[in-house]
Amino acid sequence: MIDRLFNLHGHTAWITGATRGLGKQMARCLAAAGANIVTNSRNGAEAEAVAREIALEFGVETFATAADVTDEESIAEFVSEASKTVGPIDILVNNAGVNFRRPTTEMPLAEWKRVLDINLTGPFLCSKAVLPEMVARGWGRVIHISSMLGTVGLAERGPYTASKGGLVLLTKTQALEVAHSGVTVNALCPGPFRTEMNRALLDDPVKYQEFCARLPVGRWGEMEEIEGPILFLASPSSSFVTGVCLVVDGGWTAQ
Ligand SMILES: NC(=O)c1ccc[n+]([C@@H]2O[C@H](COP(=O)([O-])OP(=O)(O)OC[C@H]3O[C@@H](n4cnc5c(N)ncnc54)[C@H](OP(=O)(O)O)[C@@H]3O)[C@@H](O)[C@H]2O)c1
Repeated sequence: MIDRLFNLHGHTAWITGATRGLGKQMARCLAAAGANIVTNSRNGAEAEAVAREIALEFGVETFATAADVTDEESIAEFVSEASKTVGPIDILVNNAGVNFRRPTTEMPLAEWKRVLDINLTGPFLCSKAVLPEMVARGWGRVIHISSMLGTVGLAERGPYTASKGGLVLLTKTQALEVAHSGVTVNALCPGPFRTEMNRALLDDPVKYQEFCARLPVGRWGEMEEIEGPILFLASPSSSFVTGVCLVVDGGWTAQ
């Protein structure tokens, strides 16, 4: 039964921005379940290095190159090349993201636009590039990596919360658009994990402890704690789950 629910052999998973952090952790997890792995970031050498590491360790096929999720042409080219190399993409994890922290009154328009472009327009473009093929094949998984901050606000996170909240509603709309087809669209909403994106908080003992104190479990997430949730949403086990937000936040949003 476990094999029927969670085996990803014969599938190809594209995890955007898997060169580090949660993306890399999720890519390794899906490879361990048997999926071929496709990834991109703005840094092609780093993407290729992660792909090589995963291919060696898990014995799966991989494809990686530089591609910016905000560039529609690069993404179309990337999807075409990846599909030719390792097979059609039937699992998409929209993970690439950025965060600039400032109050609204101090937020330059360029930073606002950059966050919206990468965190919201990027997932729109990547899902637009793979959904037709998924629908035609009658099976697919799109997982948008939103955030607990896609469901609640936090000061000094204007563009980030707006982008991640937008992603939650894009999830529901896309889920409805393809519900008839065997393709599911869900959002995964993590709480705080120790990655480069959170470097400023991790390097500030006061801010780090403030976060711990606000978390009902009293601690940040361990990187492995993203694996069960992503495997569930990417695998056959979640076939009747679509349009939901799976919040993985140590209870932050339960309060
Ligand atoms: N860490 C957390 O606590 C947390 C909590 C909730 C949600 N999340 C979400 O989880 C996702 C991953 O976060 P993380 O903490 O693992 O971040 P991270 O360590 O900073 O990694 C971000 C990844 O995205 C890539 N990327 C950024 N902009 C890109 C672009 N325009 N095109 C292609 N790739 C791009 C980065 O590579 P390059 O810079 O080389 O392009 C990198 O591989 C994000 O969507 C984030 O919002 C994280």
